[in-house]
Amino acid sequence: MSEQTIDPLTPVLSETWDARRSWTLDAYVAQGGWKGLAKALAQPPADVVQVVKDSGLRGRGGAGFPTGMKWGFLPAPDGGPRYLVVNADESEPGTCKDIPLMLASPQLLIEGVAITSYAIGCDHAFIYVRGEVLHVYRRLLRAVEEAYAAGYLGKNIQGSGFDLDVTVHAGAGAYICGEETALLDSLEGLRGQPRLKPPFPAVAGLYARPTVVNNVESIASVPAIVNEGSDWFRSMGTERSSGHGLFSLSGHVVRPGQYEAPLGITLRELLDMAGGIRGGNRLKFWTPGGSSTPLFTDAHLDTPLDYESVAAAGSMLGTRALQIFDETTCVVRAVSRWMDFYAHESCGKCTPCREGTYWLKQILRRIEHGEGTESDLDVLLDTCDNILGRAFCALGDGATSPVTSSIALFREEFEAHITGRGCPFDPSAAALFDYTPRRAPQALTAGAH
Ligand SMILES: Cc1cc2nc3c(=O)[nH]c(=O)nc-3n(C[C@H](O)[C@H](O)[C@H](O)COP(=O)(O)O)c2cc1C
Ligand code: SF4
Repeated sequence: MSEQTIDPLTPVLSETWDARRSWTLDAYVAQGGWKGLAKALAQPPADVVQVVKDSGLRGRGGAGFPTGMKWGFLPAPDGGPRYLVVNADESEPGTCKDIPLMLASPQLLIEGVAITSYAIGCDHAFIYVRGEVLHVYRRLLRAVEEAYAAGYLGKNIQGSGFDLDVTVHAGAGAYICGEETALLDSLEGLRGQPRLKPPFPAVAGLYARPTVVNNVESIASVPAIVNEGSDWFRSMGTERSSGHGLFSLSGHVVRPGQYEAPLGITLRELLDMAGGIRGGNRLKFWTPGGSSTPLFTDAHLDTPLDYESVAAAGSMLGTRALQIFDETTCVVRAVSRWMDFYAHESCGKCTPCREGTYWLKQILRRIEHGEGTESDLDVLLDTCDNILGRAFCALGDGATSPVTSSIALFREEFEAHITGRGCPFDPSAAALFDYTPRRAPQALTAGAH
């Protein structure tokens, strides 16, 4: 760990989370909330779009697409409806920022929805929330109710002539419904499967009308940008990855949690604040942006966590879901669990992903349980090769990331499972899986992990 004393936290989204009953409208207003809407309503909608464009805010849902530019893609108004849909489906393994944000500060999201709707000319916005998180759904429903009662939603908001209705919709709980076009199908009452693009949602989205789909954190970032200005936002982060964001540390850290910091912070700095790796252990591998992003190791402790630097180092910033695994973790077992998830969540629409994730799961389980064969690693890589770039949506591509990156980084560990006919780590774990290694575990060589 670095000796340097640092405190690079920039609480903006999370600033009010510690307030008493932070989720209520009263608490939010007492902390200065809803001022951004008043400021936005005092200017033409195009100016609000411009300030978000100038801020350089990039979508916080994973892909990092510039938010203001996305809003600018909407065709000119034609008198018909246009929609804002907030993607609150948060289901990527490791990703856990939107749910705490909505629990602690739902009014911040709703204010962001109101400002964005005003900016893009929308009078009906939707928040699509993951079905399993009933407590978040209830909290959002109550928060929307409060906002209507206080005149922040509904007709003639704050006397401005601007009308907005907000519908909170709970999905049935499927990872694929976080993919924006599957989400739109699900919202329309259809089975949630991705649509062919183009047309993109900006042109033909919800009910075939122009639609902006944005992540919770993207929309929740808007009130502060409108309040403080684009230069303020650009004063944080890097030139092409501006601003701040939630970094979610989970796994083998002393103090897991949400760390709000400028983009470009490093894992080393975050770990310093999070108390380091549990038990003084060594970091083995980590995900920079959820399970769909290629693994990093301790060689990447100083990689700046911005879009460009993480891509240059061979992974993706994704949702800044930093899952930390120490040296006691079996990488085969971790990847095998992730693959169980992808195989389960594959929507089945396209063959490479539907069949590929099924076979990746079978082979990984076999290796994990000491039943792998010499050719299995080649078959795994070949299967990934047949999914990557050939799947209908990014779920398939993402499923290959943990497999290809873990084999590239820890090939010897996979081989040890095959030649040793069992897992060389933590023999007691076998009890969890009703599995007894056929032979005594074989120790790994020093260079294996
Ligand atoms: C399988 C899959 C799941 C996704 N899940 C989410 C999600 O839960 N939340 C989210 O905001 N974006 C998710 N995305 C990305 C969305 O398709 C979309 O890019 C995002 O909502 C755009 O918002 P942003 O520009 O504000 O980032 C997912 C993508 C895929 C392929
Ligand atoms: S890649 Fe997977 S999740 Fe995406 S459409 Fe194909 S089967 Fe469905």
